[in-house]
Amino acid sequence: MTIEYWSLPEPGGFAILLCMTGKEIREKFLKFFEGKGHKIIPSASLVPENDPTVLFTTAGMHPLVPYLLGEPHPEGTRLADAQKCVRTGDIDEVGDNRHLTFFEMLGNWSLGDYFKQEAIAWSWELLTSTREGFGLDSSRLAVSVFAGDESTPRDEESAAMWQEIGVSAPRIAYLGKEDNWWPAGGKHFGPQGPDTEIFYWTKSATVPVAFDPKDDGWVEIWNNVFMQFNKTPDGVLAPLAKKNVDTGMGLERMTMVMQNVATVFETDLFTPLIVAIETRSAKKYGTDDETTRAMRVVADHVKTATFIIGDPRGVGPSNTDQGYIVRRLIRRAVRFGRSLGIEGGFISVLAEKVIAMYADTYPELVRNRDRVIEELKNEEEKFSQTLHRGLQEAMKLQEEYATTLVIPGAQAFYLYESFGFPKELTEEVLGKKVNGQEWEDAMKTHQEKSRAGAEQKFAGGLADHSEVVVRMHTATHLLHQALRNVLGTHVEQKGSNITSERLRFDFSHGQKMTPEEIAKVEEIVNQQIAKDLPMHFAMLTVDEAKASGAIGLFEDKYAQLGNKVKVYMVGDDARGYFSKEICGGPHVEHTALVGKFKILKEEASSAGVRRIKAVVS
Ligand code: ALA
Repeated sequence: MTIEYWSLPEPGGFAILLCMTGKEIREKFLKFFEGKGHKIIPSASLVPENDPTVLFTTAGMHPLVPYLLGEPHPEGTRLADAQKCVRTGDIDEVGDNRHLTFFEMLGNWSLGDYFKQEAIAWSWELLTSTREGFGLDSSRLAVSVFAGDESTPRDEESAAMWQEIGVSAPRIAYLGKEDNWWPAGGKHFGPQGPDTEIFYWTKSATVPVAFDPKDDGWVEIWNNVFMQFNKTPDGVLAPLAKKNVDTGMGLERMTMVMQNVATVFETDLFTPLIVAIETRSAKKYGTDDETTRAMRVVADHVKTATFIIGDPRGVGPSNTDQGYIVRRLIRRAVRFGRSLGIEGGFISVLAEKVIAMYADTYPELVRNRDRVIEELKNEEEKFSQTLHRGLQEAMKLQEEYATTLVIPGAQAFYLYESFGFPKELTEEVLGKKVNGQEWEDAMKTHQEKSRAGAEQKFAGGLADHSEVVVRMHTATHLLHQALRNVLGTHVEQKGSNITSERLRFDFSHGQKMTPEEIAKVEEIVNQQIAKDLPMHFAMLTVDEAKASGAIGLFEDKYAQLGNKVKVYMVGDDARGYFSKEICGGPHVEHTALVGKFKILKEEASSAGVRRIKAVVS
């Protein structure tokens, strides 16, 4: 227990809070599962590598997909973690009382180990036990289970287990695939299965006898997924060789429940930011809806931008993919900050607070502090210079298109090009849609880098570990080493992105590659493929990995388990090792499976960084 003082949502008040902090909740969760034989693994990067389907890690399961599909996890079959997640599908919803773009997902994992019985019993114990757990009042809890459909039976097993524990029949709801299947709706491919969700009554002292999932007084606090299937890209639901458990508890939601406040923004995971915004704006949170919403948007967006830039695979603002999201977040925060009357730079000041709040849990934020602050300052300054004029221009459009609901793409693009207004910001300011196709065309004409790819990825979903992506992933390792052989050891990976169409690899190198160098690199990669070398990984300490000559990101949490890193090696003792690289996988088992490798293009990416696009066939 800790005592905290902070300003209350009600204007002018201060309260003494006697309850668990967000940090304590995170720790308690992990400690509980450690006590049940789970190994605590660090959060993976927010920016998934070699995954064309998503821009960010959107759930705890995302980085664990290879293990859910059967690859043995070096830490064993019981794992627990707090995973940093970003969901950007509904940025524009942020500001209501529920939506966040950054959140942490607490999870426990069984990889072919325990199943429903233990998962359900432990969930209940952690939630209700006053000694080991959160001590929630069990009479305020309810659950939902999968109702069954034509392909999968009703989950009577889970329902019976809940009843045995003491959940009354009216507190158990049976729901379909949209609600009780993960990934939601069962439309995605990859590992999946029915889930059971736990809800807490937040509204009044009197708890309804029956659970009505439509009543928003019932807040979902935890999801237990029973992964029994793998849906193949052609839609077949095949049973998994081993059954897994994947659970997700949103830390911010749980903190809201534990601190007995009305929204996540009033928990200690946000109040230091809200108080700082109050101080800068001389306004009070809770005074009116507009002020409250603006403060929530600023707090949420600055936190998310700080985490994305401060990630081990940090991405700064730009016009494409993750960078475009960072840009949108910062610019939206600046606009809402100005609407609160905040003058001058404030984004980086708030980011310092975010870093201080999370320094113990996510030390990468401290390590990357300078970059975070610099990127935020630059972006804020750049946008602030044109924001006012951009808003004036937007108002002209408002008049010109007063009677239409859709603004022509070229007009909106002009606002973007001249005043830095992302499309969505224009839509929000004008309360109108921008013609998406025309916008895309304008963007394409303006620069080859279209953000169409990014848009397809907003929906989130599973990692694509399709065969071709895995082959290109191995080809990327071969390419990386071949570039070092040909150009020198100054070559380091600066970025990697794979879609089913091509691989893209960014690396440090000062000059354009000559045609001879390109041909040589291609030849070396194809030689290694022809040798059909085996590929396997070893778990090494950082010192061992360095001593072995492994290349790659040593601070890459994705490949880090406990104090070891995963090193993928191409080759064998007899023929030697062509490449050793720190990486989370997955890869092909031997190089012949990669196929023929071809470089399509070599171009500049940014100062001192070159980019190669290549394919395998
Ligand atoms: N993967 C599950 C979720 O995100 C636990 O809800």
